[in-house]
Amino acid sequence: MSPVTDNLEEDIADPLMQVLVVANRLPFCRMPGAGADQWQPSPGGLVSTLMPALRERRGTWLGWTGDVGAAEPFSKNGICCEPLGLSSSEVEGFYEGFSNRTLWPLYHDAIRPPEFNTDWWSAYVAVNERYATRAAQIAEEGALVWVNDYQLQLVPRLLHRLRPDLLIGFFLHICFPPPELFMQLPWRRELVEGILGANVVGFQVPLSLRNFAAAVDCLTNARRRGGELTYGDRTIQIRAFPASIDAGRFERIAGSYDTQLRVKVIRERLGGQPKILLGVDRLDYTKGIVPRLMAYKEMLADGTISVPECVMIQVAVPTRDNLGTYCDERRQVEKLIGDLNRDFGQMGAPAVHYLRQSLPIEELVALYCAADVLLVTSYKDGMNLVAKEYVASRIDDSGSVVLSEFAGAAESMSAAYLVNPHHREALKRAILAALGSSIAEQRRRMTSLRHAVRSWTSAHWANEFLGVLEAMRATAAHRSVCSVSGPRHDSRL
Ligand code: F6P
Repeated sequence: MSPVTDNLEEDIADPLMQVLVVANRLPFCRMPGAGADQWQPSPGGLVSTLMPALRERRGTWLGWTGDVGAAEPFSKNGICCEPLGLSSSEVEGFYEGFSNRTLWPLYHDAIRPPEFNTDWWSAYVAVNERYATRAAQIAEEGALVWVNDYQLQLVPRLLHRLRPDLLIGFFLHICFPPPELFMQLPWRRELVEGILGANVVGFQVPLSLRNFAAAVDCLTNARRRGGELTYGDRTIQIRAFPASIDAGRFERIAGSYDTQLRVKVIRERLGGQPKILLGVDRLDYTKGIVPRLMAYKEMLADGTISVPECVMIQVAVPTRDNLGTYCDERRQVEKLIGDLNRDFGQMGAPAVHYLRQSLPIEELVALYCAADVLLVTSYKDGMNLVAKEYVASRIDDSGSVVLSEFAGAAESMSAAYLVNPHHREALKRAILAALGSSIAEQRRRMTSLRHAVRSWTSAHWANEFLGVLEAMRATAAHRSVCSVSGPRHDSRL
């Protein structure tokens, strides 16, 4: 984890400088079935980490509304939102196709086979051009533009061409894949060159940074010295900046009277003194919900644990429902939960309480406070902010986290029960150890986890990223402003 920034204000030279966030989703999406201008917070880690950071400054956010059709600019919770409407064919080709059937699986260890389709690629290029054009129109002179995530990897280069006065940062919220996977992509060089249009490129963890550097070495003639790339006449900083949360907000909600009351109600409804296992995930095949349920099932079957002394709550936030791989995952998860409740549930006491919904933060924090053990068993995860949210909410230093070693959060959470989700026996051992841990052991681990999450918040993350970007202003001013294309070179061709 990066060192703690003591004085947040000093990191940014001019706090009044416009920060324009460009991300595929606005922080708010239209409420299904509600009126045209009814908005609710968008799901996903990107929004929960950027929102609190942006609220602190004069921020504008350019992104998609999450459905088809246009919307007028609006302000909500201190953020100016500039909606970018996508047509249904753009949603199909750019979002569902190239972003989520090609890049998402490829960048997550090919857990599901990535599909390569030229029409989706064309849609990806076209939508990235639309984002870049719109950002060029609304960015103020010399603004800091923060482009986010795998859906928009071409935007930095396109935007730099349109507006060379801007300082452009790019942050990848998911993992960057190892070269042997990335090199499968027919459009690999275009993506790397697209990202290299930024002045600063950020990753969640050093492994992603190394993977990206390897791709740059293979596909371009950029020269690298440590975290600095020289590409043509430009200098680019590449660094790891682990994303985080607004820990104070979770602590405040956890400490409120209403939350503590709600925790009591939840526990009483579950039968008074049960041990509660909790999972909170988007219903995504990368999250390892199936191995978690399988481990629970085997432990119930062999009698190591039993219902109602031990129960599981699984919150599964709906996501990407139109994609076959997600429908399959949902079917598998729901079948397993059905089996568990059939075989081990009792009247009024199911083995798994399944909530397929997005919960308000107050209810989520109440669940975090009620649960004895949080289960994060992702096969691959850029960061996983749920693990950090749970820790921040445990204000009495109790509770335990079983955490996949393949989640970026594991880098800074070594006091969790780290586990390989592919290793069933190890997973069961970790869950049992967490369930059986003494209060003293919980305190020992949780104090260390809470210290880490409080000393590196979303504000530290954003200020460090924007600070490095702002520091590039001097370098950027001295270079030629017309082109970002370095000479081409592909060592594999
Ligand atoms: O964090 C990865 C990410 O894809 C974000 O870009 C996004 O906000 C979140 O997951 C939710 O995904 P989607 O925007 O496809 O619903």
